[in-house]
Amino acid sequence: MSNKKIKQDYLNKIKELHKHNKLYYEESSPTISDKDYDLLKIEVINLEKKYKYLRNNLSPSTTVGFKPSRNFLKSKHRVQMLSLSNAFNEEDLINFEKKIINYLNNDIELEYSVEPKIDGISASLTYINGNLKTGVSRGDGTEGELITENLKTIKDIPHAVKDKNFPKDIEIRGEVFIKKKNFKELKNNFANPRNAASGSLRQKNPEETKKIPLHFIAYTYGFIQNNIFKYQSDFLKALQKWGFQTSKYNKVIKDIKELVLLHKKFENERFELEYDIDGLVYKINDLKLQKRLGFTSNAPRWAIAHKFSANSAYSQILNIGVQVGRTGALTPVAKIKPANIGGVIVSNATLHNEDEITRKDIRVGDTVKVERAGDVIPHVIEVDIKKRKNNSKKFVFPTICPSCGSKTEKEFNNVTNKFDAVRRCTNEGYDCEKIAIEKIKHFISKEALNIDGWGKKVVEKFWDLKIIRLPQHIFSLDYNKISNLDGWGDLSVSNLKYSIEKSKTVSLEKFIYSIGIRHIGIENAKLIADYVKSTKNFLELVDKKHFDQFLNIDGIGDTQIKSIKKFFENKTNYDIFIKLSKILTIQKRAINKKGKLRDKNFMFTGKLRNLSRAEAKSLVEQNSGSIVSTVNKRLNFLVIGEKPTNKKIEQAKQLGIKILSQDEWYKLLN
Ligand code: IVH
Repeated sequence: MSNKKIKQDYLNKIKELHKHNKLYYEESSPTISDKDYDLLKIEVINLEKKYKYLRNNLSPSTTVGFKPSRNFLKSKHRVQMLSLSNAFNEEDLINFEKKIINYLNNDIELEYSVEPKIDGISASLTYINGNLKTGVSRGDGTEGELITENLKTIKDIPHAVKDKNFPKDIEIRGEVFIKKKNFKELKNNFANPRNAASGSLRQKNPEETKKIPLHFIAYTYGFIQNNIFKYQSDFLKALQKWGFQTSKYNKVIKDIKELVLLHKKFENERFELEYDIDGLVYKINDLKLQKRLGFTSNAPRWAIAHKFSANSAYSQILNIGVQVGRTGALTPVAKIKPANIGGVIVSNATLHNEDEITRKDIRVGDTVKVERAGDVIPHVIEVDIKKRKNNSKKFVFPTICPSCGSKTEKEFNNVTNKFDAVRRCTNEGYDCEKIAIEKIKHFISKEALNIDGWGKKVVEKFWDLKIIRLPQHIFSLDYNKISNLDGWGDLSVSNLKYSIEKSKTVSLEKFIYSIGIRHIGIENAKLIADYVKSTKNFLELVDKKHFDQFLNIDGIGDTQIKSIKKFFENKTNYDIFIKLSKILTIQKRAINKKGKLRDKNFMFTGKLRNLSRAEAKSLVEQNSGSIVSTVNKRLNFLVIGEKPTNKKIEQAKQLGIKILSQDEWYKLLN
C-alpha cells in the first residue's frame, strides 16, 4: 500500500471511531457492538504503531482528559426504557389528546403531570427491600450498562430508603445531569453539559465520577411491586418523601391552552434555569389510564415531550436540487450558504415537496429563514420577499424523474379527495437508480436487516463501483475486491463479513419490512407476519393473487393491499423476494401461547362502551388471542357492542360461532 493510501485508510478509521463515539455517548444509540468498536480501535492503534508518522491529535491514544469506558457489564431492564414522542406546537398537542380520547373511546377531561424535560442521561435504579442494588444506564432501551458504583457517588441518590411505604422491589428512573454553573469549569473538555454528564458517568473508576458534581432528578418508575399510586403527581410527591430530588417546576395542568402558556413561559426563561432543559414533558396524570393506553413500539401513548422551538438563522439559497426517495417521492432540497444554527453548521435544508415550494414561492437566490430542531432535517420556514432580486425566476419543478427519466405523478387520495402534495417517480423498483439505492439502504437499516458497519455511504460507494445492484448481492460479495478498496483493511472486511452472516437470520416481520413495500412500515409488517406466520404462507397468498385475504387483518386496508399487489406485480421485486427467502433463515413468528385467549380468534362489531377498537384489540392480543375482520369458520367469538352489523351476526349464527356481549367478553378476560 502506498503511504497516501495508508494515511487515508487510517483517517477513515478515525472518522469511523468518532462517529461511533458520538452515537454511543451523545445519542445513546450505538450501531456497532462493543466488540466491533474495540476491534476498530485496536486497528487504529496498530496502524499508529506500525507507521509512526500517522499519529496526530485525533488519535484515540492521545485524546486527553476524560476517556469514558465502554467496558461495563450489561444489564437487562425489566421494563423497557423507551423514549418520548415529540410535539412542537399546539396542533401536535391537540392531535396527541385526540388520539388518546379515541383510544379510550371516552370523552373525559384529561389531566397532565407537567415536568421539565431535563437534557441529561437517564438512569434506572433498582431498590430491593429499601436498598440500592443496581444502577443501569438506558443503553438501547432493552439493556444498559451496569454503572451502580458510579451512580452511588451522586449525592442525590439514596443508598437506602427507610420509609415503610417504599415498595419492596422498585426501579426508580430519572435524569443524571450537571448544573450549568459547574459545566463552566469543564467547558474545555466537553461540548455541552449533557456530554459532560455522560462522560463522567462512564468513567471506569468511580473516583473519577465523584470529581464532577453530578445530580439526579427522579421522575418515573420502571418495574414496581404493588403499585398503590393513583396519580403520577402522587408518585412524584412520594419520591420526595423517600429522599429523592424531584423538579421544583413539576405541576398538574388540565387544559392544552394552559400547557401552551406554561411552555411559552419556560421557553423564555429556560436560559436562567440552573440546568439545561429542552422542553416540557406532559404525562397523563391518572396511572390507571396510563396503563390502559400502554405503548407503541417505541414510546408511551400517555406522554409527550413538548420541545422548545428550534434554533433558526437566515441564509441564502444557492441552488435547489430534487432528491428521489425510496418510494419515488421527489423531495426538493435547498443548498444554502453555510450558516451556524445553534452550534451546528447547516448547508442543506429540505423544502419538503412540490406544493410547499409553490405555496411559499421559494426561488433560487432567495434569502430564507432556516430552522433546525433536534435531529430533524433543517427546513426552510419563510422567504424574506423584501430581499428578493428583480430578476429572480419561479422555480420549475421537474415533471420527469431526475434519476431515471420516468413519468412522475401526484396521486389522488380517495380519503381526502385531493391530490397528494408529493410528486413521485412512477417506476416501481430497481430500474430507477436513486430508488434502487434507497431501497438497498432501507434493506440494511437498523429496523430491517440491521447490517452493522454498513452505512448509507457504503451503499453509495458499492453502487458506484457496481458491486451491488440488488439486495441479494449483499450475500455474494467479492471480499477480495473490497479489501483492495481505499479505507478497507482486513479487519473491517472481516467485520463486514461477520455482520452480513449475522444478519442472515431474521424475523419474519423484519424480512417483510426490509423488502420495502410502500405503506408497509414495521407495525404493518408485524400485523402481516402475525397473520401469515411463515414466508411460505405469504408466498402462497402472493402466488395465488389472494391479496384480498390481507383484509382479514385488522389494521390493513385498501391502500396497503393495493401497494402489496403493485409491489409483487413487478418481476424484479418478486424475484428478490424468492432469492432472499432462499438465502435468509427467516424465523417463523413466535406466538405467545401463554394467554387465556390462545388459539382463539375474535371479531368485534358495533360500538364498545368506554373502549376503542384499538384497545380491545390490544387486550385480545395481550392474552394471546387474534383479531380477524371477516366472519368465517376460523372465527371463534363475535363480540357485539351497540348498533352492531346485523349481517355479521346472521353469518356468525349460520356458522355456529359463539356470540358474546361486551360483558361476557370481559368475563372471558377476567
Ligand atoms: S419520562 C417512557 N420524564 O427524555 C418515558 N423523561 O425522550 C419515560 N427525560 O429517555 C421518560 N426529563 O432521558 C421522562 N420528566 C421526564 C424527563 C424525561 C427528561 C428524558 C429521558 C428519556 C427522554 C425521552
